[in-house]
Amino acid sequence: MIILSVETSCDETSVAVLDCDEKTKEINLLSNVVSSQVKIHAKWGGVIPNLAAREHVKNVIPVLDEALKKAKVKLKDIDLFATTKGPGLIPALLIGTNAAKTLSYFWKKPLIGVQHIEGHIYANFLASPKIEFPLLALVVSGGHTSLILMKNHLEYQTLGETQDDAVGEAFDKVAKLLDLSYPGGPIVSKKADEFEEMLEKVEDKSLKEKIKAIEFPRPMMDKKNYDFSFSGLKTSVLYFYQNLETEKMDEKTSKIYKSAICKEFQDAAVEVLTTKAKKAIQEFKPKTVALAGGVAANLTLRKTLEEKAKEIAKDESREIEYLVPPFEFCGDNAAMIGASAFYRFLDYEKNSPESIETELNENWKNLEANSSFKICR
Ligand code: KG4
Ligand code: ZN
Repeated sequence: MIILSVETSCDETSVAVLDCDEKTKEINLLSNVVSSQVKIHAKWGGVIPNLAAREHVKNVIPVLDEALKKAKVKLKDIDLFATTKGPGLIPALLIGTNAAKTLSYFWKKPLIGVQHIEGHIYANFLASPKIEFPLLALVVSGGHTSLILMKNHLEYQTLGETQDDAVGEAFDKVAKLLDLSYPGGPIVSKKADEFEEMLEKVEDKSLKEKIKAIEFPRPMMDKKNYDFSFSGLKTSVLYFYQNLETEKMDEKTSKIYKSAICKEFQDAAVEVLTTKAKKAIQEFKPKTVALAGGVAANLTLRKTLEEKAKEIAKDESREIEYLVPPFEFCGDNAAMIGASAFYRFLDYEKNSPESIETELNENWKNLEANSSFKICR
């Protein structure tokens, strides 16, 4: 079956076309076009919802045309439409949901509304149809941070989640207070990765010691539950940076301090995330561990979680499959929404085929964007 999916929950306008085999569950991604608004929102240091919506309106048709052209597919060939229903920014979500509803109405084909975080998890299944459950997903994005246990496709148990800021949001806020660019994740991780080499070049021994001594807290790391908190970590960075008075330093010293702050912040965030994930792997014994969401592009996080999963596999003398999405599917994209819609469609066919008529074929009028849509079966 051919699926066309739309994603406009935040600041990327994306349309993908997927050729999915219902028997083998193999997904052949024919196209995945992403038009990013990052440059537009950068000067505000965050996404402005109405500005995002205005850009989605401008971009959605050209992105749709390009996705169809790249896939060499016509709209009349599409068997199923899909769109992100939520969570996300309502003005932004409305553009994608209305575009998909119009297509579903005009072409008289079913429409599925996908939960965005489910989409991030399903980005991992684009390449591999053979998933072993239970699966533990560490979801790390700009709006969410959670540990989710899946006993099977579409079956979720949220073990814990952030009580305040999401980890991606913390990366963005730290970048903003250090006067770095938006979005913060890529630049903070770049500065962190440059740190060791910069430190080696510092000749002043006392400065070197001071820099090495920088330490931020690991909030909630040793608590028994699987919840997270990143707002205190961000505030520690803020107070530390304010007390530094970098404006009184020479440029080189201020640069190395910024790099050191990024490194220690990233280390703290990654340590908290992977320590909690490790505990969950030990308790729930998943066969697969998957990383999902925009922060999954972070190299230190990818590597550390893999190492911890390998350690446990060795200790417990068993195999643990470790999945990370390719970089192009870490951030928001429509391919992941299409993948999730495919598995949802298979589930409808198997468990409630009548709902295709009564629900999916009616979604052109009934589907509503939902800014706080929760992940559920
Ligand atoms: O999943 P996503 O594209 O959007 C949401 O659904 O929120 O995630 C965006 C988040 C941003 O906060 C961005 O700073 C972060 O992912 N991010 C990173 C990296 N690349 C993107 N965070 C840390 N390291 C990265 N390399
Ligand atoms: Zn996302």
